[in-house]
Amino acid sequence: MMVDICYNSARRPFGQGAPLDALAPANTGDVRAFHRTFREYAPTPLHDLPHLAGEFGLGRILIKDESRRFGLNAFKVLGASYAIGRYLAEKLGRPLSSLDPDRLRDPVLREKLGDITFATTTDGNHGRGVAWTARQMGQKAVVYMPRGSASSRVENIRALGAECSVTDLNYDDAVRMTWARARERGWVMVQDTAWDGYEDIPAWIMQGYTTLAAEALEQMRTAGTQAPTHVFLQAGVGSFAGAVLGCLAAELGPDMPVFVIVEPHRANCIYRSVLAADGRPHSVAGDLDTLMAGLACGEPNTISWPLLRDYAAACVSCPDCVAADGMRILAAPRGGDVPVLSGESGAVTTGVLQWIMQSEEGAEAREKLRLNGTSTVLLISTEGDTSPSTYRDVVWFGRHSRWSE
Ligand SMILES: Cc1ncc(COP(=O)(O)O)c(C=O)c1O
Repeated sequence: MMVDICYNSARRPFGQGAPLDALAPANTGDVRAFHRTFREYAPTPLHDLPHLAGEFGLGRILIKDESRRFGLNAFKVLGASYAIGRYLAEKLGRPLSSLDPDRLRDPVLREKLGDITFATTTDGNHGRGVAWTARQMGQKAVVYMPRGSASSRVENIRALGAECSVTDLNYDDAVRMTWARARERGWVMVQDTAWDGYEDIPAWIMQGYTTLAAEALEQMRTAGTQAPTHVFLQAGVGSFAGAVLGCLAAELGPDMPVFVIVEPHRANCIYRSVLAADGRPHSVAGDLDTLMAGLACGEPNTISWPLLRDYAAACVSCPDCVAADGMRILAAPRGGDVPVLSGESGAVTTGVLQWIMQSEEGAEAREKLRLNGTSTVLLISTEGDTSPSTYRDVVWFGRHSRWSE
């Protein structure tokens, strides 16, 4: 099994890299306040897995379970809801703190706003968040998906009243198509990645994700647990990883954890960008064909990339069976740990941690990243079984085994 690791030679000390202020908990108070206005809001669980930590030779493993987020089975709605809230607040010329979903549906405000269509491209989770929020606000959503998208993910989006279709394009080309169509038709593009000239909404989406990092910090403090020494973050375009890294680094300062970014081999754009070591983001083209649908993105987010470039310690590129191993490990815990229902993009960091801690080939990484009995590792299971048939095939029937890939 080939797992590739690239150590970031351009990593900088705290305070000497890309600015972190926009993601600092002190400056994102209105993000959580807005999320709390949704009836569905509740902090997701942060589980301690002491037996797994013991088996891996680590001090502690904490895993945040985002399958419980707003009843939508993934963290993504945190970004879409905050960005749409901010957009509507700006359109009304009012502070976001004066608005909540009920007020935004109020006939007088609704009249002022008019009919808005929010458009996006998605592997499934982000589009579900956009469709859910648009419905909460009494507005419309149009969602496009890359070729090969799972029908259960399409159905979940349609069930929220959005128009949803599968294109014959890969993720990044579908984003370009959606952008052209949105401009032509006057739709508001709510995309979870940025490019030159399209930055406000993606920056709000990243701020939206910080709610989960702020919750985790609070949960650790309440439990009297030390702050994490290591955080493993999975990346598609890197918005999620940049947001969580930025929030934790801003809060923990010079004591910030060692951040490890994880991607599938076939869509490893952050890995390749760090490996190139020229400071610029690099893309991966083609089919981006991976089990990890949420991570099948080939072009880094231009506003998140500088954070990953400056503060990530290492990037890991791995085959699909590593994500499948992670799903099985979390589903069938040993020694009384809580089981975690984790989908392919959610579980890949657990699979990578297993490989680093328990394989012979992982010895160099254990040493270089100083992963040992004193480490507290934070993992984020970013989704539950968002494709139930894939989950069953992997966890029940053993598809994507390390012995056959
Ligand atoms: C479940 C899940 N995890 C992680 C990610 C990665 O997020 P990003 O594209 O911001 O890197 C996604 C993206 O869609 C996702 O759906």
